[in-house]
Amino acid sequence: MKRYLFVLTPMFLLVTFGSFGWNSCNSTKAIQTSNEKMVQDTAFDEAAAIAAIKKKIEGREQEPAEAVFENIQIMKGFPAGRVLDIMQMAFSRSLGVSCDHCHVPNDWGNEEKLTKQVTRDMWMMMGEINGELLKNIPNLQSEQPVANCTTCHRGQIKPATSLK
Ligand code: HEC
Ligand code: HEC
Repeated sequence: MKRYLFVLTPMFLLVTFGSFGWNSCNSTKAIQTSNEKMVQDTAFDEAAAIAAIKKKIEGREQEPAEAVFENIQIMKGFPAGRVLDIMQMAFSRSLGVSCDHCHVPNDWGNEEKLTKQVTRDMWMMMGEINGELLKNIPNLQSEQPVANCTTCHRGQIKPATSLK
């Protein structure tokens, strides 16, 4: 239970939208790159998929995600519209992937892909880092130290452990 509490804190929203802000400066390039990759790798069209979801949830963007979507576990209480922003900005961009890395395309509630499962554990890990570990490091010269998906992944599926 305790592990779920941080999800609701304002601090945690900041973590998510920290990555949102960080990515926005080069989002155009990222979108182009991922679109090119998708056209080559699969027939999955990210822009069309997002447009279809937006249309489907139109008028319900402010409702809690679990009331709008099928299998919400970690983002309970988040406005449905914000979940989509997190999918695009925090998850896809920070790993350098498109939606189909974690989802069976256009079957969003499907739980088949292991990457979707791992992501929930990564989210919990990130919560512990921010909510418990990082803020308890004494002498840190930062008012609000934050680690998010981008901090580790930096556009890669597997974070680097050494510099090239
Ligand atoms: C790194 C993995 C990852 C990526 C990439 C990703 N998602 Fe997700 N997505 C998840 C996880 C995990 C959940 C479940 C969230 C929860 O449990 O609250 C989810 C949930 C969703 C849901 C709600 C499904 C339901 O009915 O329960 C939608 C819609 C969705 N994602 C769309 C997208 C779209 C569109 C993209 C690409 C722009 C995307 N996702 C990219 C991991 C990912
Ligand atoms: C503290 C560093 C750290 C943070 C923060 C972090 N990750 Fe990870 N992530 C890792 C490491 C390490 C691995 C394991 C890589 C390996 O298999 O060698 C990993 C693996 C993954 C994988 C499985 C990769 C694959 O396809 O095999 C996914 C998906 C993932 N992370 C998503 C996320 C998402 C989404 C976030 C933000 C909610 C996140 N991670 C935050 C360090 C991190």
